[in-house]
Amino acid sequence: MAKYKIAWLPGDGIGIEVLEAAKIVLDKLNLDAEYIHGDIGWEFWCKEGDAFPERTIDLLNNVNAAMFGAITSKPVKAAEAELIPELKGKGLVYRSPIVRMRQLFDLYTCLRPIKAYPGNPLNFKENIDIVVFRENTEDLYSGVEFNPVPEELRDLLLKISKPFSAFKDIPLDRYAISCKINTKKGSEKIICAAFNFAKKFGRKKVTVVHKANVVRATDGLFFETAKEIAKDYPGIQLDDANIDAMTMWLLKNPFNYDVLVAPNLYGDIISDLCAQMVGGLGFGCSGNIGDKLAVFEPTHGSAPKYFGQYKVNPIATILAAKMMLDWLGEKDMAVKLENAVAEVIKEGKVRTYDMGGNNKTLEMANEIASKL
Ligand code: IPM
Ligand code: MG
Repeated sequence: MAKYKIAWLPGDGIGIEVLEAAKIVLDKLNLDAEYIHGDIGWEFWCKEGDAFPERTIDLLNNVNAAMFGAITSKPVKAAEAELIPELKGKGLVYRSPIVRMRQLFDLYTCLRPIKAYPGNPLNFKENIDIVVFRENTEDLYSGVEFNPVPEELRDLLLKISKPFSAFKDIPLDRYAISCKINTKKGSEKIICAAFNFAKKFGRKKVTVVHKANVVRATDGLFFETAKEIAKDYPGIQLDDANIDAMTMWLLKNPFNYDVLVAPNLYGDIISDLCAQMVGGLGFGCSGNIGDKLAVFEPTHGSAPKYFGQYKVNPIATILAAKMMLDWLGEKDMAVKLENAVAEVIKEGKVRTYDMGGNNKTLEMANEIASKL
């Protein structure tokens, strides 16, 4: 029996191509793993009304880790679902499977390392080395949303919230409510993860990203929690910034930042900005990490327009595979793989289109594999 069971979830579009690339390097490393395919994606929503079928959930309950490609996430409303024959009359609303997966398996840490590999022509500046910890299950991603707004909710809000009176005369179908829900426990878990990481890897500073000056309840709770937790880590500086200012400062001086920790949506935004500083979509890798399971993925989407061309950069996914090796405790393989990626970037002989080259997805993977 293999040492590890890995769920293999290509998903849609170029997700399939970049996972093929990741498999090339994992095979070259001889990782002792059984890879088990899981159905996930747009196709299954159209066929079965579920983009993340029960059988795939079962699979994830029985593996050590998973690699995930990408999924087409379209904001489909019930009315649009009615146009798909298989789904007609079911009143279904599409919800992103990756968001559901994060919540269902309590993959509360979204870990996004941001590293400028020397020689990458896309680096905004050399030597950027930031690690983003994004809360991955709460916040505006709660899924608690109303459009139209139910009458009982409107009546309750009128009773208990003064500012809500501004909406009192608006018809219920003329506004919408999305609930930003943050718990003390959820905030503690991600903030502790960020500080523990900083301690373990000798990082000096953790910056909390928030908007507590306006969004007082939820972001206030997040920031206050960070202040409490920071007391347990005397060697590490607690820093904080509002999300808006943060986007400016990150560009102005990325070297001021070390570890960032943020609620879900700000973390989503800031991690894209950070990824762009070190090469963009082809370099943003991500780990969705819980206490029992972790799912690794490139940060990019399924890029339907490039599907079938095998032209996108697989480095993001290969670095996600490196993160998986770390999580499995295969440190030597992880280091070897990262070094191989760094070498290929530095040499600059094989480059995909985003890096200004003509090489294809699998050529890049094979070049990296050749260094292993
Ligand atoms: C990400 C993506 C997802 C998110 C989408 C695809 C639902 O943007 O992983 O950052 O918003 O979390
Ligand atoms: Mg995102």
